Amino acid sequence: MSKTIRWGIVGTGGIAKKFAAGLTVLPDSELVAVASRSRKTADAFGDLFHVTKRYDNYEGLAQDTDVDVVYIATPHSLHKENTLMCLRAGKPVLCEKPFAINAEEATEMIRLARERRLFLMEAMWTRFFPLMVKVREMIASETIGEVRMLMADFGYRSDDLKAWIFNPNFGGGGLLDVGIYPLSLSHLIFGNPNQIKSIPHLGDTGVDEQSAVLLGYKDGRIALIASATRTETPHVAYLLGTKGRIHIHSPWWKPQTLTLSVNGRADEVIQIPFQGNGYNYEAAEVARCLREGRTESGTMSLDETLSIMKTMDAIRAQWNLKYPIES
Ligand SMILES: NC(=O)c1ccc[n+]([C@@H]2O[C@H](COP(=O)([O-])OP(=O)(O)OC[C@H]3O[C@@H](n4cnc5c(N)ncnc54)[C@H](OP(=O)(O)O)[C@@H]3O)[C@@H](O)[C@H]2O)c1
Repeated sequence: MSKTIRWGIVGTGGIAKKFAAGLTVLPDSELVAVASRSRKTADAFGDLFHVTKRYDNYEGLAQDTDVDVVYIATPHSLHKENTLMCLRAGKPVLCEKPFAINAEEATEMIRLARERRLFLMEAMWTRFFPLMVKVREMIASETIGEVRMLMADFGYRSDDLKAWIFNPNFGGGGLLDVGIYPLSLSHLIFGNPNQIKSIPHLGDTGVDEQSAVLLGYKDGRIALIASATRTETPHVAYLLGTKGRIHIHSPWWKPQTLTLSVNGRADEVIQIPFQGNGYNYEAAEVARCLREGRTESGTMSLDETLSIMKTMDAIRAQWNLKYPIES
């Protein structure tokens, strides 16, 4: 692996642009190639981010020997095929969240990466923020005692019902788009749930426009999570322990401030600003893993990604929400 990690990006939409901007603050990473379905879009993206190699198809980038690792930034329903294509071409992959449409797809992706001994990770960027590292340290050292309850939400209002995020053919709906953030946080803190109760509202396009999910864990620990694509929510997270609580300020999924309340002590506001636009931290983790010859990140392991997909499958089963590609 060269000292500078050379990235290729598949897809040129909203998140691809943010990720490309994030890469610019990393001294040892370089964006060398971009792939789009169209030449025009690839060129526009290339001009914007000074990328020399531009492909009007995804396969060309996967085969490019100048690319060390590929970031997949396409709609959910394409994550599996785009990731498998890159792995088959021998490329390590950072794949956007949700990692796949369901656990079956995720299993196939993980199996191939492990067979080929290639790096693969879900781009759950929230986990890599410096403030989240601090939160994990606090939980491990029991600063708030034993965490008994978690409350977190991620909901925004969109009126663009024609967007693919409302389209079942693309794996649309709030759970896979943004519910995955509080769900991933719950998995991080509590592990696998043993009970799930949920209420969705499925909109006219057939996917969840908002939902509330209650997750039960060993020893009676509970997570309450909410997500929406048609309702703006507060974007806060609370971790409630036996000795106090941690409030991660809005937007908790791009965190830089928390309030620590420990019983019998004055509240403490802790600020840990992030550098760049925040996407640089997950990219730095990938670069570190690649340099160290790792095929998985310990912070976002593939087993955990698969567990999260299984929980989302179980939640959707309660809603009878099956995507057309699943039938
Ligand atoms: N981590 C985060 O903060 C974050 C934020 C937003 C989204 N995401 C995730 O990133 C992925 C992409 O989201 P986005 O918001 O960037 O979407 P977007 O703006 O619609 O971009 C998706 C890109 O995928 C490519 N694509 C290939 N086939 C497509 C098709 N049939 N329809 C539409 N686009 C197609 C297009 O690039 P070309 O035309 O160049 O091929 C398009 O620009 C999603 O899985 C989403 O969950 C993550």
